[in-house]
Amino acid sequence: MLSMSKVVSGDSYEECQATADWLLSSTQVRPTVGIVCGSGLGGLADMLKDPQVFKYSDIPNFPRSTVHGHAGRLVFGTLKGKPCVCMQGRFHLYEGYPVQKITFPIRVFKLMGVETMILTNAAGALNQDYKVGDVMIIKDHINMPGFAGVNPLTGPNDERFGVRFPCMSDAYDRELQKLARDVVSELGYSDFMREGVYCSLGGPSFETIAECVMLHKLGADAVGMSTVQEVIVVRHSGMRCLALSLISNCSVMDYDSHEKANHEEVLETGRQRAEQLEKLVSEIVAKLERNNNSLTR
Ligand code: HPA
Repeated sequence: MLSMSKVVSGDSYEECQATADWLLSSTQVRPTVGIVCGSGLGGLADMLKDPQVFKYSDIPNFPRSTVHGHAGRLVFGTLKGKPCVCMQGRFHLYEGYPVQKITFPIRVFKLMGVETMILTNAAGALNQDYKVGDVMIIKDHINMPGFAGVNPLTGPNDERFGVRFPCMSDAYDRELQKLARDVVSELGYSDFMREGVYCSLGGPSFETIAECVMLHKLGADAVGMSTVQEVIVVRHSGMRCLALSLISNCSVMDYDSHEKANHEEVLETGRQRAEQLEKLVSEIVAKLERNNNSLTR
């Protein structure tokens, strides 16, 4: 029974280990930091020095990226001297993957030795104070698909990854959030930095006006279609994480508005703010080492 369901979901320990071993035998880099690039933010991967690039289609057991704006490559290299691995393109529920396939790379990262994950995404603002181009440090999330039973940890639990019932009240590492805030002020980015709650939906259709109003009332500041499944698996396997949303559009919250959410706007905002977001992430990575001793999981 255990092996059957794991064969179906495709994220067994053995499959993750086989992929991790294949990657480790194909690169000299031993990453301690993993980065996930959101829509339009693939440029983060181009910051890596001495990059070694693997197309997802060439990596055993890896899903393929099907979304415009997501390159579908795993990039190894160093960032500010730290060994990193970067997903240039992630997987989403709306692509039709079983949820465990979406988080498969995260488990592979863990087995390769990654300790810290930095996740980025593009999101729509529900908070009326937010503007397009703002960057939000995610302090917490609402996992809407989780309410309907869609959770990457559903099914038999393999204790080699983590415990059956992992805590999520500390999902977003507070020390890393503080580090991000410190770097934001050093770089003079405070004007466009926010901190808030990210709500993930299944997509791919954007939200209705009533849905946006409801999500905001429930306490969400921004809405998107990714990240929370990855964060759940990051925490399950004992890595720590920092997550950042680039606000690419303001959600339509009233019936007099003629605004319409669209994917091109999401990508265009990414292009405009990408340079500053890349700088922010690379400075955070640079300072991880300095803070490493005091940082706990
Ligand atoms: N809704 C959902 N996902 C998104 C949005 C949005 O408004 N913007 C970017 N990703």
